[in-house]
Amino acid sequence: MNLKGRSFLTLTDFSPEEIEYLIDLAADLKAKKKQGITGNSLKGKNIALIFEKPSTRTRCAFTVGCVDEGGHPEYLGKDDIQLGHKESVEDTARVLGRMFDGIEFRGFKQETVEKLAKYSGVPVWNGLTDSYHPTQILADFLTLKEQFGRLKGLHLLYSGDGRNNVANSLMIGSSKLGLHFTILSPKPLWPGEELVTICRTYAKASQGAITITDQLEAVKGADAIYTDVWCSMGEEALAAERLALLKPYQVNRKLMDMTGKKNTVFLHCLPAVKGNEVTEEVFEKNADVVFDQAENRMHTIKAVMVATVGNETI
Ligand code: CP
Ligand code: NVA
Repeated sequence: MNLKGRSFLTLTDFSPEEIEYLIDLAADLKAKKKQGITGNSLKGKNIALIFEKPSTRTRCAFTVGCVDEGGHPEYLGKDDIQLGHKESVEDTARVLGRMFDGIEFRGFKQETVEKLAKYSGVPVWNGLTDSYHPTQILADFLTLKEQFGRLKGLHLLYSGDGRNNVANSLMIGSSKLGLHFTILSPKPLWPGEELVTICRTYAKASQGAITITDQLEAVKGADAIYTDVWCSMGEEALAAERLALLKPYQVNRKLMDMTGKKNTVFLHCLPAVKGNEVTEEVFEKNADVVFDQAENRMHTIKAVMVATVGNETI
């Protein structure tokens, strides 16, 4: 599989086979790192990490993943560069493209990451925008594969803000890889119809399924229940409104028990607001899996960099 030179702006950029390849490559890199083996496929490569919004996992995953493979990461925070203030995105992209081999962007608008890719001429990776969080889903799916040995046919339910970046990207990834994916959310927070329609066509091809519902009974049979914060970065002013809408959708013991399965796992992209979207009890009971998921951000992001800008064709 050759993904050299490719950007990763949303999961729609990759075929199911390409997504599976990245997950398997990450599993391989993870196994090697556990044996103390790291590579040099990013030797001589310089990677720009642009962050308009804060980050723990994504920033550290890009940094550690890059250094493990012999590359040089350069953190460019929102007050460090002129992007979008004194200098246009187009000009910033053209400058960075002359100096760097790949660019990660985390920020607000999807349009910004798209412009960076269009004007820089080097691979650009979306480290989260208001619309999508595609690298997160690679880590989520690696974690599910570790837990269940497969992805196809798994029942994955996401409870919470059903139209945020994580929910959107989970829906794309699930429908591409043949999962039975449910969004459990109050109607005002359902995902956009246009994206749901696209994902239903993917699901048809992969024998997956997409369900959008506000009925808690939908958790019956779920292999995994996933949630995310009720207010994403930049939405802090909506906290009271979201609390009122989403309180019935908290992942608590009762909801976990309603799956009727003993081995249902709980997933969270983190950071978590315990007491809101998940109880402390459910979180701590599933902490091993949740922190595997966090660790897997690094292995999967490393795989994305290795596959798209790495020195040797793997
Ligand atoms: N899950 C995730 O993207 O975490 P950070 O915001 O810490 O990068
Ligand atoms: N939906 C969350 C994800 C954080 C990783 C946010 O955008 O803040």
